[in-house]
Amino acid sequence: MTTELLLPPRRYGLDDYLAQGGYRVLGAVVADPDLGQAVLARTTLSGLGGAHFSFARKFTAVLDQLAPRAVLCNAAEDEPGSGKDRALLSINPHVVIEGTLIAAAALGATDVVFYVSATSTTELKSLTAALAESGIDLLLPDVEVRVVTAPDRYVAGEASAAINVVDGGEGKPTGQPPYPSERGIGGRPTLVANAETLANLARIIRAAQRGADPVWTRLATVTGDVVAPGVYEIRPDVDTFTTLIARAGGLSGYGELKAVQPGGPSSSFITADAADIAVCDADIRSAGSQPGCLAVRVVATSTCVVEICEEITDFFARQQCGQCPPCRMKTQTYHRTVQQVASGKGSWELLDKLTHVEEFVVDMPRKCSLIDMPTPPVDSARSLFPADFAAHIEHGHCAANLTATPAAH
Ligand SMILES: Cc1cc2nc3c(=O)[nH]c(=O)nc-3n(C[C@H](O)[C@H](O)[C@H](O)COP(=O)(O)O)c2cc1C
Ligand code: SF4
Repeated sequence: MTTELLLPPRRYGLDDYLAQGGYRVLGAVVADPDLGQAVLARTTLSGLGGAHFSFARKFTAVLDQLAPRAVLCNAAEDEPGSGKDRALLSINPHVVIEGTLIAAAALGATDVVFYVSATSTTELKSLTAALAESGIDLLLPDVEVRVVTAPDRYVAGEASAAINVVDGGEGKPTGQPPYPSERGIGGRPTLVANAETLANLARIIRAAQRGADPVWTRLATVTGDVVAPGVYEIRPDVDTFTTLIARAGGLSGYGELKAVQPGGPSSSFITADAADIAVCDADIRSAGSQPGCLAVRVVATSTCVVEICEEITDFFARQQCGQCPPCRMKTQTYHRTVQQVASGKGSWELLDKLTHVEEFVVDMPRKCSLIDMPTPPVDSARSLFPADFAAHIEHGHCAANLTATPAAH
């Protein structure tokens, strides 16, 4: 069976997409929404925006609510190190459009929003051009399709913040419940799904029509100490982190592989000896990390994890939106502490105090999960790479092996 790729080797316009059988599934679901409902209500796909919630459960939750309904395709993608949604919009915009409209047709939704970062100018142009040439207004005349730009702020990608922007707000999380499936855009039950999640829907239904399971692929964005950072389409049942790093040109800089952070800045590090695990959710979880949006950071021995933790905690401290006092306190304390350690002014006792911060905020109300995000990277870095922390604490500088020979490519 051939693997249907999400990212073709060059940009697909409408003619290319149609030549691959594009928009046939949408036509079938418009003609028979029950077909879409039957397949999407039992797909094993989990959301690829980071939280990995079951798509089928979310789809069914929206379907169970009264019409009118809405669909929001989330391509805000402000997570550092992630570029997969932008790659989809610029290279294969029609696969995202078709998937989003399949969900809309199956749900009988009357509102569709493509939510894209205002900073993604190339991708916005590509999406707008694809929408204009798609002819969807003829296929779905009763559906209002809009492109709404997301503010350049990490939390604006969170589901309730996205709905808030679409409804004219400033783009801060409003808290859940009510869940978007109950009360979303304009008060309508809304399916909020990531752009890559939705890009899978056409091939899922095509496979079901053949009586088969789709051959899954996923988009991994590789950054860090590699020769060719970028977005790579992988087979989770075949590719390992070792093969993924090889596809990204191998290690750059100096030294050997030290660690991988598989799921973006909020995920735990795994050590080099775990690099032969498959790039799949189950193996990543078994190795003690989280798959997130598969923004894979590769770390060579020449790089200090304390410095990476400083960068990560700085990001979360700056990006927390200030609505929830415990989040403000926790993210800023994490950053101050790691910064002190990195600058040679920290201590083990100071690091230990982070546990108390954690215990202090654990039951306090918060409107989104950003508050939890600094913990896995810092905890895992400390327990897996104590020598890096010891060097900063005891000797005031990095332990990273800056004098090692260049990595063999
Ligand atoms: C701080 C924060 C930022 C987020 N940013 C994004 C984003 O840019 N894109 C995205 O798809 N999901 C983002 N999410 C997750 C969304 O809340 C939501 O779970 C997701 O869009 C649902 O799609 P999925 O089920 O297909 O993953 C973010 C969540 C949080 C807490
Ligand atoms: S948890 Fe943090 S980022 Fe999320 S809404 Fe509250 S203050 Fe903002």
